[in-house]
Amino acid sequence: MTATSILGKPTSRIDGRAKVTGAAKYAAEHNVPELAHGFVVTSAIAKGRIAQIDMADALAVDGVIAVFTHSNRPKMAASHEKYSDDVAPAGKPFRPLYDDRICFSFQPIALVVAEEPEIARFAASLLHIDYEQEPHETDFEKQRDHAFVFKGDGENHSHKRGKADKAFADAPVKVAAEYRMEVEHHNPMEMFGATAVWEGDGRITVHDKTQGPVNCRDYLANVFGMKADELRVLNPYVGGAFGSGLRPQYELPLAVLAARALKRSVRVTLTRQQMFGLGYRAGNIQSLKLGAERDGRLTSFAHEFIGMTSQFEAFQRTCVAWSSQLYKCANTDLVQKLVRLDQNSPCDMRAPGGCEGVYAIECAMDELSYAANIDPLELRLVNYSDRDQMEDKPYSSKELRECYRQAAERFGWSKRNPRPRSMKDGHELVGWGMASGIWEAMQLEASARAVLGANGSLEIASATADIGPGTYTMMAQLGAELMGVPLDNVTVKLGDSDLPQAPVEGGSFTTASVGSAIAAACRAVQKDLLRVAQKAAGSPLKGAKFADVEFADGRIRRKDGGAEVSFADAMRAGKLDRIEKEASAAPNDKSKFAHYTHSAIFAEVKIDEELGVIRVTRVVNAVAAGRILNPKIAGSQILGAIVGGIGMALHEETLTDHRFGRFMVHNLADYHVPVNADVHGIEVIFVDEQDDEINPLGVKGVGEIGIVGTAAAIANAIYHATGKRVRDLPITIDKVMRA
Ligand code: MOS
Repeated sequence: MTATSILGKPTSRIDGRAKVTGAAKYAAEHNVPELAHGFVVTSAIAKGRIAQIDMADALAVDGVIAVFTHSNRPKMAASHEKYSDDVAPAGKPFRPLYDDRICFSFQPIALVVAEEPEIARFAASLLHIDYEQEPHETDFEKQRDHAFVFKGDGENHSHKRGKADKAFADAPVKVAAEYRMEVEHHNPMEMFGATAVWEGDGRITVHDKTQGPVNCRDYLANVFGMKADELRVLNPYVGGAFGSGLRPQYELPLAVLAARALKRSVRVTLTRQQMFGLGYRAGNIQSLKLGAERDGRLTSFAHEFIGMTSQFEAFQRTCVAWSSQLYKCANTDLVQKLVRLDQNSPCDMRAPGGCEGVYAIECAMDELSYAANIDPLELRLVNYSDRDQMEDKPYSSKELRECYRQAAERFGWSKRNPRPRSMKDGHELVGWGMASGIWEAMQLEASARAVLGANGSLEIASATADIGPGTYTMMAQLGAELMGVPLDNVTVKLGDSDLPQAPVEGGSFTTASVGSAIAAACRAVQKDLLRVAQKAAGSPLKGAKFADVEFADGRIRRKDGGAEVSFADAMRAGKLDRIEKEASAAPNDKSKFAHYTHSAIFAEVKIDEELGVIRVTRVVNAVAAGRILNPKIAGSQILGAIVGGIGMALHEETLTDHRFGRFMVHNLADYHVPVNADVHGIEVIFVDEQDDEINPLGVKGVGEIGIVGTAAAIANAIYHATGKRVRDLPITIDKVMRA
């Protein structure tokens, strides 16, 4: 880092102005001539087949162009063919309008296309649909005995070490408890929509609401048998997604199907209600048994996780492994199971797996702290693990101890009266709880392009997305710093499948993945720049190796002092007006180290003793996530994730009416998310963490680490306030009053 480093500074978002002024256009905001509008009709039943769809009345409406169903749709690849969706779980992916089968309520079964959206929506109400209904099963609890271990996808982390049963039986201190979570839906601000632009020659450009334009392009090519270069998917701005846009959602193939059939541009937008038919965070039941010595040292850790999936795919994520990364324990029995239901497949949502698993682990640890009569923070320190016991590897870096220390100090944890129901503020009970957080520090292969202009301009480009975390800004900062030009000289392009290939934006891996590719591309440009600089007659850089020089402030400088050449002079010498390089970066798969981010969360709740109203009045979250490139936008990531954690703890649940096998919560009136009045003091601390092993940038990525552990800290605070242990999320007023 140079003295004038742009990295590590709280830089504001470079796309902020475009977003707040409305200049940033979202998927369904692109207007093109002759645009037709599609409205989706979804299934009213959960299981069976479509006997008949009578579309005469709909087609008779003035302005209706076409109605597409399984019986008249154009050709598409069968749903039993594995297709290239980078994020698809194992199984047979659902394909809209493929055949007459109904696999879940809210399944899309017809698309009505008209000149105006209102006409399409009205005509959709005139379809007469006859179903042959079959008995469905959506009751998770009833099916738990049919849970099975699915190992076909590398995502099952069932694991045994030692003898957990015996150690539990022998343990002087023990806790056994069962935790539950309801289904949750992502509910991003931007609705799902796709504007498929018919280019006249068979090519299609689609503005889609997605986290991965390359993934969507490849998916479309596969489903419709098109060539990749006949398709371009754009998503330069995304109004949030939380994982719901990782896989291609059905608005995309439906818009493209209609555009190709009608040789005309078509937009398909989903309603908020219809978005409850997309993926969701699976509801789950988690049984934990912890045994410990009297001093709190864990002797046994058993964790069984049962999640839900569809009949056609097996969706699961790492749920049970986390205790083996957080806490030393010789005897461990971890099992992950699935139950099949007549529902759509779940999909990734906000730290998928980790969020759920760590919730139960950290609540069970809290229960153990009371059973052993040890401070909850002390219990974590007594069991602190310096190795990942799943893979028996040390960590490349793990400043979790420092997270605990700094967050506890800021929160004032030492002033806590350990006795439940002992702290009060007027008519409110006060509770203090804490939890640990952990998330994978992932990196995937990615490419990026850097173009340096003779005037000192720099363009950075990569086909990843910015779903809200500030990727534009990160890419600009990295480009400026690594190339050695001012931030204002940098422009960034992303959200376009034609750009250098990159993975979906998710998993908190974008900065490490794309950032490493940007570093490689900038370095390639600099090598050319040095070469041309040395060509000039009497160049002061003659004989200098790449390692002998540095690039800063638009100049190449000998590190030993003295000689320097401006980028402009170097390019003039080489008669170049631009240097353009594309490069890729891949993670070090052979690393001997485990790569994780960590956090310590402390929460305060105040609960009205008579009304049961719960307020999360303070949260302090200390995060260790390698080098923090921009504390302002990284801090916003953690802040937003904590708000998501408040939602998970207190508000969010999608209830099912099992008589109809249908989510009965499917709008924002019934699906509660935290609003301003629910969010009080939140403090984010980034703990210094140096990691030279993980990647040359020392970057781990932030985002999801902010939600993992937050719900547990709040649940533990509620216990401390009330003396009542509510183990089912969300912890609503009725549960606190009843418990
Ligand atoms: Mo995230 S759930 O990988 O968008």
